Amino acid sequence: MTSSQNQALYSQSMGHLLVLYTQVDYFIMQACAERLATAPNDAAKMGLAKQVGDERRHVDIQRHWMADFGVDNAPVINAQSLEALHVHFRTLDWCDFLTDLYLVIEALGSEAVERIVPLADPGTRESLRIPLQDELDHVAFGLAELRKALHAMDEKQRTERLRSLPARIEHLVAHLQGLGLPVADWFEGVGSNYPNLCSSLEQRKEQLLTTLAA
Ligand SMILES: [Fe+2]
Ligand SMILES: [Fe+2]
Repeated sequence: MTSSQNQALYSQSMGHLLVLYTQVDYFIMQACAERLATAPNDAAKMGLAKQVGDERRHVDIQRHWMADFGVDNAPVINAQSLEALHVHFRTLDWCDFLTDLYLVIEALGSEAVERIVPLADPGTRESLRIPLQDELDHVAFGLAELRKALHAMDEKQRTERLRSLPARIEHLVAHLQGLGLPVADWFEGVGSNYPNLCSSLEQRKEQLLTTLAA
C-alpha cells in the first residue's frame, strides 16, 4: 500500500470509529436521562444528571471535530438497532442496567477508545482528551452504584448476581457483535492490532469482575 492509500484508509477508519463513539455517547445520554426518574437513590439521580451533561458535551466535541476532520458522518449503527438497544436497557432492573451500561458500554468501550489514542493524529487525540477523562468518572460512578446495589441484596442474591455477571457481559458483547459492524477492520485501519485489543478488553473485564467480587 502507498502512503496516500494508508492515509486514506486511516482517515476513513478513524472517521467510522469517531461516528461510532459519538453515536454511543448520544445513546448513553438518552439512556441515562430515561433512568433519572426511577434511579433508586439521590446520589444515583445526581450522578446520572451529571452524566447526561457530560455525554452531551462529548457529542458536541466529537461533532465539531468530525466536521473539521471531514468525516463522513453517516450513522454506523442504524436507527432500528439503536431502538432495539433502548428497548433492551428499558427492561433492565437497576443492577442489570448498571452492569450493561457501565461494565460493558462505558468501561470496555472507553478501554477500546483509550487503545487508539496513541495511534491517533493530534486533532483526534485532542478531541478524545476531555471525553476520556469524563468516562473515568462514569465508570467509577457505575461501579460504586453497582456495589451499593449488590450490598443491598441478601447474601444468596448477591452471590447469584455476581455469578451471573460474566454471562451477562458476554451476552451483551455478543449482541453488539451481532450488529455486524466491521469494527475489526476499522481498528486495523487506524493501525491497531485487533487480537491484542480483544485481549486487553478481556483483561479489563477480568479486572472489573475481580474488583466487584472483592
Ligand atoms: Fe462519553
Ligand atoms: Fe460516558
